[in-house]
Amino acid sequence: MAYRPACMEQATIPHPTASSASSPLPPGPRGPAIAQALLYARDPLGFLIRLQKRHGDVFTVAFPYFGRAVYLASPPLVKSIFTGSPERFHAGEANATVLEPALGPNSVLTLDEAPHMRQRKLLLPPFHGEQISHYGELMREITMQEMESWPVGEPFALRPHTQRITLAVIMRAVFGVHDEDRLTRFEKLIEDFSARVNLVIALPPLRRSFGRWSPWSRFLRAREALDEFIYEEIAIRRAEVEAGSEGHDDVLSLLLSARHDDGSPMSDEELRDELVTVLGAGHETTATGLAWAMERLLRAPDVLQRLRESVKAGEEDYLDATVKETLRARPVIVDVARKLTEPAQIGGYDLPAGTFVMAAIAALHYREDIFPKPQEFRPERFLEAKADTYSWIPFGGGVRRCIGAAFAEYEMRIILREFVARADLSAPDPKPERVKVRNITLAPGKGTRVRLNRPLSA
Ligand code: HEM
Repeated sequence: MAYRPACMEQATIPHPTASSASSPLPPGPRGPAIAQALLYARDPLGFLIRLQKRHGDVFTVAFPYFGRAVYLASPPLVKSIFTGSPERFHAGEANATVLEPALGPNSVLTLDEAPHMRQRKLLLPPFHGEQISHYGELMREITMQEMESWPVGEPFALRPHTQRITLAVIMRAVFGVHDEDRLTRFEKLIEDFSARVNLVIALPPLRRSFGRWSPWSRFLRAREALDEFIYEEIAIRRAEVEAGSEGHDDVLSLLLSARHDDGSPMSDEELRDELVTVLGAGHETTATGLAWAMERLLRAPDVLQRLRESVKAGEEDYLDATVKETLRARPVIVDVARKLTEPAQIGGYDLPAGTFVMAAIAALHYREDIFPKPQEFRPERFLEAKADTYSWIPFGGGVRRCIGAAFAEYEMRIILREFVARADLSAPDPKPERVKVRNITLAPGKGTRVRLNRPLSA
């Protein structure tokens, strides 16, 4: 984290007269957009790291349908878009291009400016540090229960298990569902929705109906069924809150009591969109982060040994550093987008309105000058220096920084602690797992194959 601020002069300057016709975009790979998209899809982490090495801190990638995106890979440049005016840098509009069909028009992820802040203000308190510590015991219980299903002596993929854990946590801690029958129904509806949503998100041209069995029609049916369940839950929880019944510290109950600045409560449609947003943004991301943590640890025995000892001694620091190093070395999300609403000069280039400007998370995390020997998995770097706001950015930044960052890190610490303290795991194949795009996350290619060498310790 010894970043030298040599490129501080590369600030972002509003440039109302910039002309798109006369200004070349930053350099980038040649070749058709489809070829660039395929290289990105095959290994986004390696692709962005290579481009930063080849072209420097600002480079352009062309994507089919979405057009050209300008990537920024230095802390000052990333800072300039994270702290830039939310009127100029639209994250919601950029996210909506991909996510709106799933999340809806009221989602904190797809809104901009005042409407975005209106939702964000209400969503932040339930995910605040003090509030989330209420969920610690629940997270631990769910983890212990899931670990009981691990086979002894046979290789298995860990990621489906981490997914079940984080899904159970969201269903209970966020939605407040505890009834077993309803949990089973909910899980099935989420499964159906997840199975249908990815295709229509990845391929916007599919977003129209070609008949009852077309991907769009099937997606709409899955969304309707999930929404019906969520509206039922909202009604149940509202009745409980209004009756003043005790013991509801789930996020939905907290949101039902929250009020906008004008005193109005959240509408059912707003609640639905935010709940689906949290489900989409918070479940698979955390599960994948956990799968990567074990994938990396099993290939760094010294780190695993130190972590096990520190966990057994009841220490938190090395565990926290391990979570941070995992999210550095394997950022679950490789880039975040802002769409320019007006021309701007960024990194010495005049960019026209409408350009997608991206923080290249992956490239930044692999800069030698910030993270020496970036290929090494070394949690110690986060004991030696604090994670910097514009260099370590797995959760994005500025007014759009991930609302669930504290929740995710806390959950990863709780779950990882159980894994490391109770399970003697090894990797059946010592080769590092390839990075693979799964939905919108970067996942281990084989889902983190592990073997439990002996029964879990108590
Ligand atoms: C390891 C786990 C996670 C990772 C890597 C992650 C990453 C991200 C990233 C990169 C963004 C975009 C930030 C930006 O545009 O600058 C984001 C936004 C968001 N995340 Fe997360 N996230 C994780 C877990 C969670 C969890 C657990 C929740 C909720 C329980 C959550 C809720 C959200 C929400 C609501 C937003 C939208 C914020 C806004 O636009 O104002 N995330 N996340």
